Amino acid sequence: AKVAVLISGTGTNMAALLYAAKSKACPYEIVLVASNNPDAPGLRLAAAEGIATWSLPHKGMKRGAFDALVDARLREAGAEYVALAGYMRILSESFVAAWQGRMLNIHPSLLPLYKGLDTHQKAIDAGDKFAGCSVHIVTPTLDDGPVLAQTRVAILPDDTAESLAARVLIAEHQLYPPTLAAFVMRERDPVHLLERVRDLAL
Ligand code: GRF
Repeated sequence: AKVAVLISGTGTNMAALLYAAKSKACPYEIVLVASNNPDAPGLRLAAAEGIATWSLPHKGMKRGAFDALVDARLREAGAEYVALAGYMRILSESFVAAWQGRMLNIHPSLLPLYKGLDTHQKAIDAGDKFAGCSVHIVTPTLDDGPVLAQTRVAILPDDTAESLAARVLIAEHQLYPPTLAAFVMRERDPVHLLERVRDLAL
C-alpha cells in the first residue's frame, strides 16, 4: 500500500513509519512526505532516505486552496493512504471527505481525553495516573474518529509536560507503524471488503 505522510516539524513519527517500512514484511511503503513548513527537519531526513518530499508554506493561502494543492500532490505520488504525523494544521472538510477512511492520525493522549494541544499538561493537571497516545481514523472533527489503537504511559510524580511528552513519544513511535500496517492489511482483506459492501448495502 502506498502511503503519504504529512508533517509540520521534527518528523520523528514519520521516521518511525519510514524505518518500519524498510522491513520486507511491511505491507506499506512511504511514497511522499509532504509539509506545510518548508523548514520542517523531517523533510531533510526523508529526502536523505530517498523519499520524495514536497512542501509549501501555507501562509497567505485559503485553507481549501492549500489543501487542494496537497491533495493533487498526494494523488500524483500515487498515495492510497495518508498518515498525519505531527501535521499541525486543521484540514478542510473537502480534504477530509476525499480521504475519509484512508487517513490516520496519531495524537498524544488517551482519546477521547484531551483533544487539541497541551495534552500532557492537561493530563498532569487533572492528576491522571496515565497518559498515552492514540492512533485514530480522521473524521471532520479534530482528533475525533474511531480509535484503532492506544498505548498507556504511566505518569511519574515528578513528571513535567516535557518529560512526559518525551516518554509518550517513544510509545508513539512503537504504536504507529504496526497500527498503520494492520490498517492497510485489513483494508485489503477480502472478508473485510465484503463486510464493507454489506455495511454500505444496509
Ligand atoms: C507528536 O507528539 C504527535 O503525536 C503530535 O505532535 C508530535 C509530533 O512529533 N501531534 P514528531 O514531528 O512526529 O516528532
